[in-house]
Amino acid sequence: MKDEFRSRLSDLRIRLELLLDRLLAPTATGGEIVRPARLLAAMRHAALDGGKRLRPFFVVETARLFGVEGEGPLRAGAALECVHCYSLVHDDLPAMDDDDLRRGRPTVHRAFDEATAILAGDALLTLAFAVLADPSTHPDGAIRAGLVANLAAASGIGGMAGGQMIDLLSEGRDLSTEDIRTLQAMKSGALFRHACEAGAIVAGASAEDRGLMRDFGARLGLAFQLADDLLDVTADASQAGKRTAKDAERGKATQVALLGPKKAADLLTVTLDEAVAMLAPYGARADMLAAAARSIGEGGGG
Ligand code: IPE
Ligand code: IPE
Ligand code: MG
Ligand code: MG
Ligand code: MG
Repeated sequence: MKDEFRSRLSDLRIRLELLLDRLLAPTATGGEIVRPARLLAAMRHAALDGGKRLRPFFVVETARLFGVEGEGPLRAGAALECVHCYSLVHDDLPAMDDDDLRRGRPTVHRAFDEATAILAGDALLTLAFAVLADPSTHPDGAIRAGLVANLAAASGIGGMAGGQMIDLLSEGRDLSTEDIRTLQAMKSGALFRHACEAGAIVAGASAEDRGLMRDFGARLGLAFQLADDLLDVTADASQAGKRTAKDAERGKATQVALLGPKKAADLLTVTLDEAVAMLAPYGARADMLAAAARSIGEGGGG
């Protein structure tokens, strides 16, 4: 299953790259006027040729669990990846985490400038919703509206952006393990929760399946941020493609800071076990999702 996971992930990466390249073409589309070359170059720097692409993988594999493959799930995954890439561009800004390196390359504000990075983030966020609203994502408008509403909730004040606010407000403060969990459920968990729920939505799965996938994705997201926080203390910049050993320096509220790396690693194992256990109702049909979940404990599929 591990080999099949690697091969499916590498196949998804190729298909996603082609789609993102097409979505970030120089020609203005439906309702747009022109696409300024500098802004487009910054968006392409942020979104193309890099990243593990795990969120879109979960969208596509969840949809496949419910019997749907092809362009629709891939577009829903691409929309989510646009939001994720925007969140990274803004996360790296001097006003936020102030980082110079991302995916082994200079961050967008370093390669361009801060104003361009802010705008590239804005434009990636709105592109995501244009992608979801397009009929080629799904012929049924109610399904498209469901995807839009779900991504909006996951990205906004009660999701990723809200979590980023709490993350910044918590620097240098001692949070309880429960408060850290809430912050992480929002800043990273919400997009993973959306990934799995979006796969169920685009596949027209039942409300029960959708709820199960939502819970599975939320648990994955917690595991993912735990793994990222551990990476910060265990990896170097060449392995991670971004600066490491920075969370302690900035006084970030993480489970690693609170519990220490050993207990945080144990918590990661338990959280992943819980996530995989949630897939039990689907039996062997969910083996690919389980393998993808397990990869989070091993560096996210490489
Ligand atoms: C980094 O996410 C930001 C977090 C939520 C921890 P990823 O580790 O998925 O980043 P890429 O997309 O692979 O670069
Ligand atoms: C980032 O968390 C979460 C979002 C971008 C929403 P981090 O700040 O830990 O991510 P890295 O370590 O910079 O990738
Ligand atoms: Mg951050
Ligand atoms: Mg950061
Ligand atoms: Mg981090």
